[in-house]
Amino acid sequence: MCGIMGYIGMRPALPVLLDGLRRLEYRGYDSAGVAVMNGGRVEVRKAAGKLARLAEIVERAPVDGALGIGHTRWATHGDPSDENAHPHTDCRGRVVVIHNGIIENFLELREELRARDHRFRSDTDTEVLAHLIEEAYEGDLPAAVERALGRARGAYALVVLSADEPDKIVAVRRISPLVVGLGQDETWLASDIPALLPYTRDVLVIEDGEMAVLTRGAPSLVRIGGGPVSRAPFRVDWDAEAAEKGGYPHFMLKEIHEQPRALQETMMGRLPDDREVVLDGVGLDAGAARAVDKVWLVACGTAYHAGLVGRALLERVARVPAEADLGSEFRYREPVVGPRALAVAISQSGETADTLAALREARGQGARTLAVANVVGSTLAREADDVLYTRAGPEIAVCSTKAYLTQLAALTMLAVRLGSARGTLEPQRAAELIRGLRALPTLAQAVLSREAEIVALAERLYATEDVFFIGRGLDYYVAMEGSLKFKEISYVHSEALAGGELKHGTLALVTPGVVVVALATQPDLVAKTASNIQQVRARGADVIGLATEATAPALRPHVDTLLCVPAAHPLLAPMLAVIPLQLFAYHVARLRGNDVDQPRNLAKSVTVE
Ligand code: M6R
Repeated sequence: MCGIMGYIGMRPALPVLLDGLRRLEYRGYDSAGVAVMNGGRVEVRKAAGKLARLAEIVERAPVDGALGIGHTRWATHGDPSDENAHPHTDCRGRVVVIHNGIIENFLELREELRARDHRFRSDTDTEVLAHLIEEAYEGDLPAAVERALGRARGAYALVVLSADEPDKIVAVRRISPLVVGLGQDETWLASDIPALLPYTRDVLVIEDGEMAVLTRGAPSLVRIGGGPVSRAPFRVDWDAEAAEKGGYPHFMLKEIHEQPRALQETMMGRLPDDREVVLDGVGLDAGAARAVDKVWLVACGTAYHAGLVGRALLERVARVPAEADLGSEFRYREPVVGPRALAVAISQSGETADTLAALREARGQGARTLAVANVVGSTLAREADDVLYTRAGPEIAVCSTKAYLTQLAALTMLAVRLGSARGTLEPQRAAELIRGLRALPTLAQAVLSREAEIVALAERLYATEDVFFIGRGLDYYVAMEGSLKFKEISYVHSEALAGGELKHGTLALVTPGVVVVALATQPDLVAKTASNIQQVRARGADVIGLATEATAPALRPHVDTLLCVPAAHPLLAPMLAVIPLQLFAYHVARLRGNDVDQPRNLAKSVTVE
């Protein structure tokens, strides 16, 4: 997720670009850059680091002109560095591009372009687009952009300038968002509405598969490969703060709703067909995969809960012994980690002190290390032998949601990859899982569309003071995550239990009115969970069941309220089941009047032990 800003009009472009990028910094902030058209020359300034560093650079070396584009980056390919910052240019510095998204086939395109003597200056996927446009240019920039994109697969919001056509900005959208702001003889472009609000409230959305050509007058919109598009602008009536949250009242809710797209981006380019999983950044070849005798998953908090699901997947899918441990415990238990072990450290921020310490402990004992991280270039990502990025985009709410879901997707892909490479996963089962993964973004969207049911449940239960989450197998791990979400932002006491453990002590706390959320998404365990439900119901508990459409008939008779997610492969069901639990935590916290995005006593990144 990156931030894009563009301007064409009569004002100096630079202050508009910097102001817009500042408002978009929440979309990414590891490097930034601008390109401004000046009398037939495009001047580029860019730098790693936050926008303040770019502001210092343009203070010393200003760029003049009334047409320009700017970018704030959240890295997906290539570390955050000056070279990898956008804009990127072609060989002659005449075509300039900025991009938000992922070009899946950039490696093959780059090889092809290098063979035709194109010189690359960055490690990014984006730069191939500048060179493709350079090759396709025959005096018509929009046509060249369209031809170049015919070669690229993936997701993009792409914005292009050319010194040969110094009076226009060409913008194309496929999946990643772009909006146009309309003024009198001036036009703005941005990846999100907040950047436009100081200038205009008349906004035109560029839809998937469309190209906009921006000039000082009215922009023109065409469907790629089709004809002109006519769309009326709409008037934005949100205030600036609401706009930054995409119209949602909190970042947490926005991030919950971003999950279908985050899943899609995490899987993009990694599931090319039904047979294989291709993990960029993970150099485990078949020999190395076969040599692994144990996988350790180390992490903290929500990432640890993802690790627990990951452990089960690695054992069940790849048939490799696996163990999950808390980063804060791992190094004090004198773990026996051999040189054939693979240590997988999972972290959204890549900066969590205990997770880093666990990775170093495992490496010190000779293990190969793999980071599953969201922040590109984070300490964890830099220190590990291999990195599998989760591509969730910046997560701002302290309460982790989309990071967890994408961690599960990454760990599932890792399990399939290891199972296939070790010969322990039959091709037919691999294909089932791959197809199941691909279906997840749509299914996650379907879960989100039933939010009203969760709101009604939260309205009924928000005053409760005790909630237990129970489940068996994978459902137990999701119950742990549901309970953490709930207590973290609602400040209501909550515990998660493996269903079978209730009668070993905790049942003593179950009294009339206590809320029990019982997860039963695993067909082979529904009957067992149903008998645990009987135990709590007999003591007067109010039971909320959470099932899939496949397990619902068996669970329904046993619960007071039933929440249902679409049927999915049982090993993938956690990725759907967690969504109602995130929404439940969110709405209870909101109704209790809590600070949802910054819960008391907590921080987003825990960099101390
Ligand atoms: O950045 P990390 O993924 O390493 O963070 C780990 C935990 O601190 C984090 O998941 C924490 O538990 C969340 N606030 C939970 O919502």
